[in-house]
Amino acid sequence: MTLNDSRILVVGAGLMGAGIAQVAAQAGHAVDLFDARAGAAEAAKAKLAQTFDGLVAKGKLTADAAQATLARIAPVDVMATADLVVEAIVENLDVKRALFAELELLLPDEAVIATNTSSISVTALARGMRRPERLVGMHFFNPVPLMKLVEVVSGLGTDLAVAQAVFDLAARWGKTPVHTRSTPGFIVNRIARPYYAEALMLLQDRVAAPELIDAVLRAAGFRMGPCELMDLIGHDTNFAVTNSVFAANFFDRRFTPSLVQQELVDAGFLGRKSGRGFYRYPEGAPALPAVAIAAPTAAQVVVHGKGPVADRFAAALPDAARELDSDWTGLSIDGRQLRQTDGRRAAELSRSTAVFDLPLATSGDIAYAGDPSTAAWLTVLGLAPRAIADVPGLIVARTIAMLINEAADAVSQGVCDEAGADAAMKLGVNYPAGPFEWLARWDRRAVAALLDRLDQHHRGERYRVSAYLK
Ligand code: NAI
Repeated sequence: MTLNDSRILVVGAGLMGAGIAQVAAQAGHAVDLFDARAGAAEAAKAKLAQTFDGLVAKGKLTADAAQATLARIAPVDVMATADLVVEAIVENLDVKRALFAELELLLPDEAVIATNTSSISVTALARGMRRPERLVGMHFFNPVPLMKLVEVVSGLGTDLAVAQAVFDLAARWGKTPVHTRSTPGFIVNRIARPYYAEALMLLQDRVAAPELIDAVLRAAGFRMGPCELMDLIGHDTNFAVTNSVFAANFFDRRFTPSLVQQELVDAGFLGRKSGRGFYRYPEGAPALPAVAIAAPTAAQVVVHGKGPVADRFAAALPDAARELDSDWTGLSIDGRQLRQTDGRRAAELSRSTAVFDLPLATSGDIAYAGDPSTAAWLTVLGLAPRAIADVPGLIVARTIAMLINEAADAVSQGVCDEAGADAAMKLGVNYPAGPFEWLARWDRRAVAALLDRLDQHHRGERYRVSAYLK
């Protein structure tokens, strides 16, 4: 089965539908664009023409290409038959089901219906359809012309050939499609939950200020820290998604929403759009205060452990001795210890110990807890140590471990495969690496041990270790 030469009907000419019509037309398809609101499809096409004018003026698009794309988009007042319908109407189960019933009266048996729903079960949407096997999710990301990821969502009744045809079509449109089963949040919205949830837990436990949490995660390669990102998304929207994933998982406490975020929503501090969230706008996050760190000195330094972090210390300290068989990573400095976090708190280890966060970066801020004189040795790696409260897994390590854990659960439950999870997180939310890429660079047992320690500390379901990691 192929949809590569299909005639396409896009239903819903809003933000997403207009973008979908554009990419389909740019790939050469004839596209009908329909919206229940009179004039909306015409207006969407006029807006696209305006965007194209701008791109042509900047030399980013030829006038011929713009003209040809626009000529392929036909705003229509009545839905006509098509080989593929892409639905991008309001996010409401009953309204979408009513549309599919209407479409099935119109479409030939072999036509495919793809829904762009971001949160409704494809399995549930297909219920009551004459041919439920032809319904598949085709979940684009906003803005559609720029975002590469498409989650191809199979419901329980979806024909595999239909899902594959939509997958192939998305690839032909220049997108990176990823197969997923219809489960709450699909891939991206599910695996991303801990990125927000861990920051909110750290804030609730008063471990560090939002600007510090943001700084260390930015240093770890994320484009935005979780607090500034929630401020951008809007706390109302982010809280609603968290609540819906929580409810959809039968209130699995793993996904419990945060009182910290509830308060922001209650106060109307919704983020950028309301002028205030964690930060005030337009200022945004305040800069971290400078910290003066005296150059560390010692009589005897030993590098402990194997692996990339130990190697970095050894390269930076050529005169240091090396203890390759040590069961921890870091430095001993005249008997004091500087250890990479394994989930234990500095206070549980020994006196005059500091634990430091997972050092994904070669420069920038890194969190530590414990003895500041020991932590000063992080500067030899080019990192700027920032003190936080002594909690298991600090900031980056626990966040990455939880992202890996959620991805591991998704894979072990057959939601997607490892490559799909990695592609989805890199392309859907711009993560600097995929969860399984992080896992490959870290260590399965170390991740499981760190999560176990978080679990022992917090005693709840949130840090339950995925069977995949055990
Ligand atoms: P939107 O509000 O911009 O557009 C929806 C359009 O559908 C409106 O123009 C409305 O008049 C039309 N419409 C409503 N009911 C209709 C019906 N019964 N028949 C025909 N047209 C109808 O919404 P947006 O943001 O484009 O979202 C559309 C779908 O895409 C939703 O299911 C949403 O969950 C999903 N989505 C949205 C994303 C986003 O970032 N906005 C991202 C990914 C998916």
